[in-house]
Amino acid sequence: MKPRILMCAPDHFDVVYVINPWMEGNVAHCDPALAMRQWQALSRAIGRVATVESILGTEGVPDMVFTANAGLVIGEKAILSHFRHIERQAEEPLFASWFAAHGMQVLRLPDDIYFEGAGDALFDRREPLLWLGWGHRSNLGSAPFLAMWLDVVVQPLRLVDPRFYHLDTCFCPLDGGRLLYYPDAFDAESQRRIAARVPAEFRIAVSTDDAKAFACNAVNVGSHLFMNRASAALVQALEAAGYQVHQTPLSEFMKAGGAAKCLTLRLDERVARSRSHPRLISD
Ligand code: ARG
Repeated sequence: MKPRILMCAPDHFDVVYVINPWMEGNVAHCDPALAMRQWQALSRAIGRVATVESILGTEGVPDMVFTANAGLVIGEKAILSHFRHIERQAEEPLFASWFAAHGMQVLRLPDDIYFEGAGDALFDRREPLLWLGWGHRSNLGSAPFLAMWLDVVVQPLRLVDPRFYHLDTCFCPLDGGRLLYYPDAFDAESQRRIAARVPAEFRIAVSTDDAKAFACNAVNVGSHLFMNRASAALVQALEAAGYQVHQTPLSEFMKAGGAAKCLTLRLDERVARSRSHPRLISD
């Protein structure tokens, strides 16, 4: 069966407020027609290898296009996001209705815990492990809930660079077990945790320029990688590792602080098969 990916067309997308450094200076600077063309190109490209499902955008919630932040879906369970910024909280009931209408059990975190879905929670592809980014948006306090609901080890990673405020802006576990990431986005302890869990030969570290071009914000389906842009050196490293890189420009969405991966939510996530790990939360 083809992978399933949820997307939201940018009919109501714009930059109207500032909640991350990318949005600064970009209020009212988006070109809606160009945004639509870029989104359609991404959606078409992904549609060749996955089934793209859609949720209707809504007026007044311009960031709803970033479906990665709707929640975290696995099997019949959808762990609904609870956004840190009031500007995005109105998306919560819209995503909750979509999940419920598609037969999912919607799980909600306590009101005082922020969690921004698959933007901050990414499954490892080698181990039954969920990486959780915290420090900007999601709270560390979401970890025990995720571990309990998903019955998986949760490895928190502390994000320290405000430009890389969601885990998926700087970290991308790849099918086949490799990890594409930007080490400087993490504190020293988190960098050590990553190195302890992912062997050096599996780690593909990107340069600051690639990170700023959102190369880590990639949609990975099998051996295919869809991303805004990558340097020749990064393309070469990824191709040498067996991946096919599809570059699809997303300048209008970067003005809001998002690119390819942020515009998608995987609906058929699976926990990697166990390599016999005890169930615990480290940190
Ligand atoms: N403007 C949005 C925000 O700041 C962008 C979200 C990007 N999404 C992501 N998964 N990184 O929340």
